[in-house]
Amino acid sequence: MTTNLGAHDHILILDFGSQVTQLIARRVRESGVYSEIWPYQAATPEKLAAYQPRGVILSGGPCSVTDEGAPLAPEAVYTLGVPVLGICYGQQAMCTQLGGTVEGSDRREFGRADVTVDAVDPLFDGVAAPGDSLQVWMSHGDHVTRLPDGFEVVGTSPGAPFAAVADTERRFYGVQFHPEVVHTPRGADLLRNFTHRICGCSGDWTMAAFREESTRALRAQVGDGRVVLGLSGGVDSTVAAVLLHEAIGPQLTCIFVDTGMMRAGEADEVVGLFRGHFNIPLIHVDAGERFLAALAGVDDPEVKRKRIGALFIDVFEEEANKIGAVKFLGQGTLYPDVIESVSVIGGPSVTIKSHHNVGGLPDRMNLALVEPLRELFKDEVRALGRELGLPDAAVGRHPFPGPGLAIRVPGEVTPDKLEILRKADTIYLEEIRTAGLYDEIWQAFAVLLPVRTVGVMGDYRSYDYVCALRAVTSTDGMTADYYPFSHEVLGRMARRIVNEVRGINRVVYDVTSKPPGTIEWE
Ligand code: XMP
Repeated sequence: MTTNLGAHDHILILDFGSQVTQLIARRVRESGVYSEIWPYQAATPEKLAAYQPRGVILSGGPCSVTDEGAPLAPEAVYTLGVPVLGICYGQQAMCTQLGGTVEGSDRREFGRADVTVDAVDPLFDGVAAPGDSLQVWMSHGDHVTRLPDGFEVVGTSPGAPFAAVADTERRFYGVQFHPEVVHTPRGADLLRNFTHRICGCSGDWTMAAFREESTRALRAQVGDGRVVLGLSGGVDSTVAAVLLHEAIGPQLTCIFVDTGMMRAGEADEVVGLFRGHFNIPLIHVDAGERFLAALAGVDDPEVKRKRIGALFIDVFEEEANKIGAVKFLGQGTLYPDVIESVSVIGGPSVTIKSHHNVGGLPDRMNLALVEPLRELFKDEVRALGRELGLPDAAVGRHPFPGPGLAIRVPGEVTPDKLEILRKADTIYLEEIRTAGLYDEIWQAFAVLLPVRTVGVMGDYRSYDYVCALRAVTSTDGMTADYYPFSHEVLGRMARRIVNEVRGINRVVYDVTSKPPGTIEWE
């Protein structure tokens, strides 16, 4: 599904494989302008002409333009007649392609730098005047040493004599630094100057507009067909369901496969929100016993994940078949899952964990996909959820993995262990909320270790399980840092868990970042 893009100005970002390309799209969208990321090779003259961007941004990337066969922008980008902004590698590619020179150097400039602005330029409008210094973030080895005809220098830094360059006639701009990262404090304003002042975009991409247009597009896609959607209780499937329901009403049926691996009270919350608050048809399948049976005797994490995934699909299919003639499967797929990643280094990636999803379902059940969120980033999904009137508690909820608590009980999963874990997890999250830290944390959860240790409770010896606490900050779950709780908060959590949860006599805090750790333990 695509929304009614023609009605909005949009910016095209060509990706050369930078780790932070997604941030460019997010900053542009935050300025109220829709943007998409394409792999640099995808911009054929025909596709570009059909897409009609108001401007093009060339991302950074890990290559050197001085290498043979280095990735370059399709020539058509420079003949479209729209403004182009090259960032880091993108600047170097642009300057090389238009007749300038880029050279390597043995001195890398990495981290904070100060750019002195030398000329009046629309990119720096309201941000820095000639003579001002601007804090930026650099990460480059190569740099431009001779500009193409028509370009002039707008800013310089000690390591990059051409830190910002412009050909105002053709509206081509280049910056050696990264305006998209937060370490360039005024970077968002620079990108806004590019989209609004230079490209002339109006900034009318809002969640209210998205809501209206996508409900129209969803109605057109679905016609009078029936849609089933697997609800997990997470933000993405919840927002997808509410948006779909707004568009097609009773043609949507939500199926909530309760695996019995949810946190305390969560299944009731999902049912209450959908049946009570939104009055959306919901089938609640209590399949806890079946999942426990499938996990009996299993302690290998990959086997656990695969069994849960396979059984989920079976249960979902059984329920969907009862509904009758269903044509579509609704899914809360997000934009980061859709962006084709550019692998300039090459090589297949290894599977770290088999993710639990319903990827195999559409083929097996002969269903077409409806993915109302496939153009949105996570923070935009949250904004859309608020726009749709979802309660803050549902919109701001931490991500929760499909296999649920099963992967937070290393070793065999048993009802007793799940019960102990639920109690500890509830206390942990209560304390996080009481300390006002829930929204600062990307994800927090307890893990029940298959290890028993000796303790002393009053006058008695105890021999009980160890509970590990995990809390991380992250922007996308791809990388993460452990959350630095104060010792006081940690001490209180540990004290309450050991005192109030029978079966746990020791608490440890996980201080591993990702990489090399992963967020979940299995
Ligand atoms: P890891 O543990 O790989 O997790 O660092 C990254 C993010 O993904 C979540 N996660 C899952 N989400 N199905 C999901 O829907 C899964 O099978 C799954 N496994 C991990 C995890 O909670 C974290 O947010």
